[in-house]
Amino acid sequence: MEVKTSLLDNMIGVGDMVLLEPLTEDSFLENLKKRFDHNEIYTYIGSVVISLNPYRSLPIYTPDKVEEYRNRNFYELSPHIYALADEAYRSLRDQDKDQCILITGESGAGKTEASKLVMSYVAAVCGKGQEVNKVKEQLLQSNPVLEAFGNAKTVRNDNSSRFGKYMDIEFDFKGDPLGGVISNYLLEKSRVVKQPRGERNFHIFYQLLSGASDDTLKKLKLERDFSKYNYLSLDSATVSGLDDAANFRTVRNAMQIVGFMEDEMESVLELVAAVLKLGNIEFKPESRCNGMDESRIKDKNDLKEMCELLGTEQSVLERAFSYRTVEAKMEKVSTTLNVAQAYYARDALAKNLYSRLFSWLVTRINESIKAQGKTRHKVMGVLDIYGFEIFEDNSFEQFIINYCNEKLQQIFIELTLREEQEEYIREGIEWTNIEYFNNAVICDLIENNQNGILAMLDEECLRPGTVTDETFLDKLNTICADHQHFESRLSKNSKFLNDHSLPHNCFRIQHYAGKVLYRVEGFVDKNNDLLYRDLSQAMYKANHSLIKQLFPEGNPAKVNLKRPPTAGFQFKASVGTLMSNLQTKNPNYIRCIKPNDKKASHVFNGSLVCHQARYLGLMENIRVRRAGYAFRQAYEPCLERYKMLCKNTWPHWKGPARQGVEVLMTDLQVPAEEFSYGRSKIFIRNPRTLFFLEEKRKQCLEDLAALIQKIYRGWKCRSHFLLLKKSQVVVASWYRRYAQQKKYQKIKHATTMVQSYTRGWQARKLLRELKYQKKCEEAVTTITAFWHGTQIRREYRKFFRANAGKKIYNFTIQRIMQKYFLGLKSKLPSMSPIDKTWPARPYSFLDGVHAELRRIFHLWRCKKYRSQFTEEKKAVYEEKLEASELFKDKKALYPSSVRQPFKGDYLEISKNPKYQKLSSAVDEKILLADVVNKINRANGKGSSRLFLLTKKNVVLADQKTGQLKANVPLTDLASVSTSTQTDGFFALKLKEGSPSAIKGDFLLSSDHLIEIITKLHRIGSMAADREKLNIDISDEFLVQFKQDKVCVKFIQGSPKNGNSVSCKRKNNRLLEVSVPASS
Ligand SMILES: Nc1ncnc2c1ncn2[C@@H]1O[C@H](COP(=O)(O)OP(=O)(O)O)[C@@H](O)[C@H]1O
Ligand SMILES: [Mg+2]
Repeated sequence: MEVKTSLLDNMIGVGDMVLLEPLTEDSFLENLKKRFDHNEIYTYIGSVVISLNPYRSLPIYTPDKVEEYRNRNFYELSPHIYALADEAYRSLRDQDKDQCILITGESGAGKTEASKLVMSYVAAVCGKGQEVNKVKEQLLQSNPVLEAFGNAKTVRNDNSSRFGKYMDIEFDFKGDPLGGVISNYLLEKSRVVKQPRGERNFHIFYQLLSGASDDTLKKLKLERDFSKYNYLSLDSATVSGLDDAANFRTVRNAMQIVGFMEDEMESVLELVAAVLKLGNIEFKPESRCNGMDESRIKDKNDLKEMCELLGTEQSVLERAFSYRTVEAKMEKVSTTLNVAQAYYARDALAKNLYSRLFSWLVTRINESIKAQGKTRHKVMGVLDIYGFEIFEDNSFEQFIINYCNEKLQQIFIELTLREEQEEYIREGIEWTNIEYFNNAVICDLIENNQNGILAMLDEECLRPGTVTDETFLDKLNTICADHQHFESRLSKNSKFLNDHSLPHNCFRIQHYAGKVLYRVEGFVDKNNDLLYRDLSQAMYKANHSLIKQLFPEGNPAKVNLKRPPTAGFQFKASVGTLMSNLQTKNPNYIRCIKPNDKKASHVFNGSLVCHQARYLGLMENIRVRRAGYAFRQAYEPCLERYKMLCKNTWPHWKGPARQGVEVLMTDLQVPAEEFSYGRSKIFIRNPRTLFFLEEKRKQCLEDLAALIQKIYRGWKCRSHFLLLKKSQVVVASWYRRYAQQKKYQKIKHATTMVQSYTRGWQARKLLRELKYQKKCEEAVTTITAFWHGTQIRREYRKFFRANAGKKIYNFTIQRIMQKYFLGLKSKLPSMSPIDKTWPARPYSFLDGVHAELRRIFHLWRCKKYRSQFTEEKKAVYEEKLEASELFKDKKALYPSSVRQPFKGDYLEISKNPKYQKLSSAVDEKILLADVVNKINRANGKGSSRLFLLTKKNVVLADQKTGQLKANVPLTDLASVSTSTQTDGFFALKLKEGSPSAIKGDFLLSSDHLIEIITKLHRIGSMAADREKLNIDISDEFLVQFKQDKVCVKFIQGSPKNGNSVSCKRKNNRLLEVSVPASS
């Protein structure tokens, strides 16, 4: 086991007060303050934790913190409540020691918070699992329930617990929680009926009224308004930062988790409502005939509603508020109650109702959280009990509370000493007696059965005759007067005889934590805690299961004439049980301290803290702890911590740790009386010795740090230097290489240059020589050639004519021409004028000739062709030529007519006997005879007519009979109109005013339109006496029909009209001819 860290590391002040040097109250306070100012709210006294309330949330309760403190030794980390919780839990789990955690301190010091922190820590570190988690949840959720019913806002604490609580949490052998048992002590029930200024009643009343639904309130016969209830103080009904409504939901939820049934929750709320109602019942005096005053209920409405809630009979309760029955030895005596007594009875009932309800809640929770199984459990008890209280006015409650604290202090001393002693024995160290103040004598003053204050109070209460608080004080004066811790004005102790600071009706006890003055008023009453039997019987009669349970003494069958035990007696008994319970356990202490009275953070009130430290006996605590040896530590961590102080143990000690520590101590020359060797620990008597060791350690650590630093620095510098050196060599080598390279390149370059110049010079020289040589050779050759030429010419001149060349040329050309013409003759194309072929030319210089020959040949060929024509044929061709001039590219019909020969006479009219008369009527030669369609001007339909053309006339005759229909002299004809399309329509337009024009123009259609019109035109152009006939080709022209002009319009026919030309009269002025589209 190696301790890595220690409480001693980074300490603010000292973390453990035992190490305080010098130990005085001032240094103690100074240390606390210093730590508090640095947010260190926890400080140790040995294993006791002092906790200062920070009054603000500190970030020291996070899950990370839980992990940090988990499984660490107590002194390993800085002081924390978690360290204590961990230590307790681990010794419970691992060493099978039952634990108790005792939390003390005055109201508002943080006890309840501390207990919750301990519980939540244990819940966080113990086992997990469905069952375990449920138990944890139930244990944790019991808190909100008890806080709602048992806590209230006081001037000191907005959430002050008004009861003492001790909770045993039970664990199995693995350390998993199994369940728990809660004990409650002395609920401050007087609060139910009356609250001091600035304080409130228990939270549950306010929570119910603000948080319950309207329905629930109606059922409980309550109103939301706090001011309607006498028992609720109004001046501080709402507390800032406390959301009653939300808390009500939390409480209901918690009750559900803990296991309350729905009807149980209802019953509880009914009781709470009943208490509120009870407070509203008021009494008035009524004189009776016997002269006694009797009380009467003022307004019975509240009583009625309360009775309805509790299921009691109104008359029974009403009677119980008016009479008191005293039974003595089979005799019953009834006395009436006066108004004051009635109020007393009412309040007693309210207090009893509430406190019994609270006890029932605790019992009920216990039932739920009870551990299952019979095996022995390990137990961790958490005690959150009211601390020592000193008020200006101290009454019975303070007396009881302080008594409890007195007992706790005693057990603290006893257990601390016992533990100390046990450790010494365990470690084999000689036990020297320790001087300390034992408060057993004070406990005895209070609880002694014969003459203790409580015993005497009981005696007074039971005594027949008039008993008052004064008689009780008298009794104390006589019996306790000699006690050194008791003081009163009439004390026989002559020392106090003149003590005028002590009022008459008071006594003073010198508690271990200081002197407290108690006022005897109310002691007897509060101790009696009387509830008139009539009331308890009335309650028992109620038809409400819970109420019945709460008042068992009201059962008439079990009338017990013995007085019930007094409050003091009960408390003493329960404290006794608690003490014997605690004594069997290993104690862990948390001592809570309030740093100021204002619930303010960051404020440290020295005198207030000093006061608390005194009555908590903290100095005492330190002294006890330091009485023997102030500090102890196991050998291993001790050696580990201080081994650097001795050469023999540093850096490693091979042998057992104890020997190592011994060597260390001897080497350090620590005086032998300053320490002792235990079995597993070294005990150091004085904190000074420890601090001496710590100081040395600190110095040594500094030296060691310097050494480490020195070696590290040396190493660092050396490595740096080596690196530099290595780098320098590399740089130098690279540079040298570079420089040499440069130099080499320079020389190489120069060499090449010189070389190239030299070579160039040599080459040029060679070139020059070669060129010269070549020139010489050429010159020689030329000279030779000329020379040879001259020689040859001189030799052969006599054999050659001077103009032979030209002759040869001419001959050659002639020869070529001859060949060309002969070739052309054999290759001539046919005689057809339309043959386009022509042989290719053989030489380009014959280009012009070749083309010209071609043209001549063609002309000649055409002439030859024409010369074959007869007169008629010539006429036919002339006609065709004319037709071409007239229509080519103008009328779409034309191309189809080219192939048709112009026959002229299609009818052979002279040979047809039918037309004999007609042919005789036309005495001239008929140039053209054909059947045409005459278009009816009315409907556009056609009728066949014979069409005859002579040199002078156009004749129309009936086709069948040959009867002459019209004879138009050509001179009357003005123009001919036709379309551009493929149709055969044409109009013969007559000159206006001519004799033929009377009947109007002719609109005709013929298959031989081209021929007809050509012939008409030809006749006109040949006759000398007439002007040329106009041919008008257009798709829209006017025709004169008798009086009106009609427009003939040609359109492209749609396919549905088929392939025939159709003519339709559209209206008076329009004749539409639809022509099929030429494909
Ligand atoms: N450790 C803490 N951290 C923060 N606030 C605390 C702490 N302890 C106590 N308080 C504050 O002090 C108030 C009173 O504490 P509480 O435990 O109810 O006192 P006690 O039970 O001693 O009367 C709490 O409501 C809380 O606001
Ligand atoms: Mg509390």
